[in-house]
Amino acid sequence: MKKLVIANWKMAPQTVKEAQAIFAKIKSRAARLRGVETVIAPPFIYLPLLKSAGKIKLAAQDVAKDDGGPWTGEISARMLKGVGVSYAIIGHSERREIGEGDDVIREKLYQSLFRGLKSVLCVGEKEKSQEAFPHIVREQIKKALRGIPRYFASKTIIAYEPVWAISSHSKGKADTPQNFFEMSIFIRRTVLDVWGKSAALRLPIIYGGSVNAKNAKGFLEVKGGSGVLVGKASLDAREFNKILEIADTI
Ligand code: 13P
Repeated sequence: MKKLVIANWKMAPQTVKEAQAIFAKIKSRAARLRGVETVIAPPFIYLPLLKSAGKIKLAAQDVAKDDGGPWTGEISARMLKGVGVSYAIIGHSERREIGEGDDVIREKLYQSLFRGLKSVLCVGEKEKSQEAFPHIVREQIKKALRGIPRYFASKTIIAYEPVWAISSHSKGKADTPQNFFEMSIFIRRTVLDVWGKSAALRLPIIYGGSVNAKNAKGFLEVKGGSGVLVGKASLDAREFNKILEIADTI
């Protein structure tokens, strides 16, 4: 199985020129690697400009909860498909932070899957000290998957991103591969409750939160883990390319 390495550029870089420069560097490296699925999630506005993606797949950082209608500022999954996007990130903690709730996330996930986008559902607790954090993650998954048909399982990916480990919160300190391993088992059990055993066993689970070239190996080697979701380090093409190289060898 290829490792999945997703770059979430968030609201960066600030110019098209910079975006194209980073993209070009990653593209030429990714072209040589066989063991990695490289995915870049730039800001929406850059998606059509980076279209000639070659081996790299494009992801949206969000999708609208509806397929049509008068939603000012929104972008539908169908529009994204139309410009060559194949993945979407859904329910990122930075969107939850600005008020996106579980119901909206479920609708977005449904739209994204319905339109054939591979959909990366982000889950994770806010505080490291939260005692009930597995319970929080379980609730996030159950609420997001409720009512979503099992046949969409093959296009669903879950990203475990503990919010406290995201570089903007943690000053670059990641979670541990051991905790990711334990959480991946827990996540799989939760998915089993909703979609059954075969979907749960096949579901790719990836880790996000301060992944860089130094710590990526540990997370990529986790048994049952399928890859990483990289924020800050993905804007530095050299650093991100190193992560791709590491993933290619595992
Ligand atoms: P960092 O890699 O900057 O911690 O961001 C993680 C993230 O939120 C990816 O979606």
